[in-house]
Amino acid sequence: MHVIRRRGWEISEREATPEHIFLNRRTFLAGTGAVALAMTPELAAAQRIADLPDPSAHLYPAKRNDKYVLDRPVTDEKINTNYNNFYEFGSTKQIARAAQALKLRPWQIKLDGMVEKEQVIDIDDLLKKVQLEERLYRMRCVEAWSMAVPWTGFPMAKLVELARPLSSAKYVRMETFMDPSTAPAQRQRWYPWPYVEGLTMAEATNELTFMVTGAYGKVVKQMGAPIRLAAPWKYGFKSIKSIVKFTFTDQRPKSYWEALQASEYGFWANVNPQVAHPRWSQATEEIIGTNERKPTLLFNGYGEFVADMYKGLEKERLWA
Ligand code: MTE
Repeated sequence: MHVIRRRGWEISEREATPEHIFLNRRTFLAGTGAVALAMTPELAAAQRIADLPDPSAHLYPAKRNDKYVLDRPVTDEKINTNYNNFYEFGSTKQIARAAQALKLRPWQIKLDGMVEKEQVIDIDDLLKKVQLEERLYRMRCVEAWSMAVPWTGFPMAKLVELARPLSSAKYVRMETFMDPSTAPAQRQRWYPWPYVEGLTMAEATNELTFMVTGAYGKVVKQMGAPIRLAAPWKYGFKSIKSIVKFTFTDQRPKSYWEALQASEYGFWANVNPQVAHPRWSQATEEIIGTNERKPTLLFNGYGEFVADMYKGLEKERLWA
């Protein structure tokens, strides 16, 4: 069932809270195949947009980079592509159809702030400058569930190189598109739109940090096309979708979730099973699509790649 919830005038805890606390996910997953939304004019228009040819289609599937291995099977594509957080299209996980309204072309990306020269680059020009590859990564959501995803993309280090930041830049601030006509939830003014996230320069250029253009060997709108982040050692909310701007700065960016609820969501958001979220344990995770619950690993199991970046930062709030 698709549940439409009425909202109040203020941000209640409910609005600022990941949806899993309020809806029973298992009920949703069991019913995924049976969900049938009426074909509203908006959805019909979205369908027509989705039917346009994708100019990047020939780049898929990309060759897999075997360096990044999983300790579990890849999550079933049908489950993963129907269980998404993309608040621009609604605060439930059932946004896959609504997200088809996302118009992927033209898509321009601004590289600005502390850079040698500001640039606006078209996604297809960007795709000509990079080599796409597939990587299998674990994804751990702050809501204590996880997936394993075959992402297609390229290292974020390559994008940083193209942006030519000044040596004084300390952070990259990333911003999602803002278009309430395609993403109706952006009309809800109690959310701090647009969605914003940030990384340090060291994090942005870490070998794991991946600019994702597709998943399961194709472009998937609801997973953040045409370009999103995958930073698999951090809680999933750091991995911002459908990015239109990268700003290089010496100011620590304030993220969307931090703006909504700073006591629960911080800048670093590294995965740590020993540090509970204020309202639930992070010790274990439910692997979506299975009945399994596994212990969560420090840095989501990616410590060998990333732990060094946090040495000397022990006084920081690294884990929320
Ligand atoms: N990016 C944008 N722009 N909007 C969002 O609502 N949700 C975040 C992150 N990136 C979100 C976003 C959260 S909470 C998670 S867990 C992941 O995207 C979900 O990615 P997935 O749908 O591919 O699993």
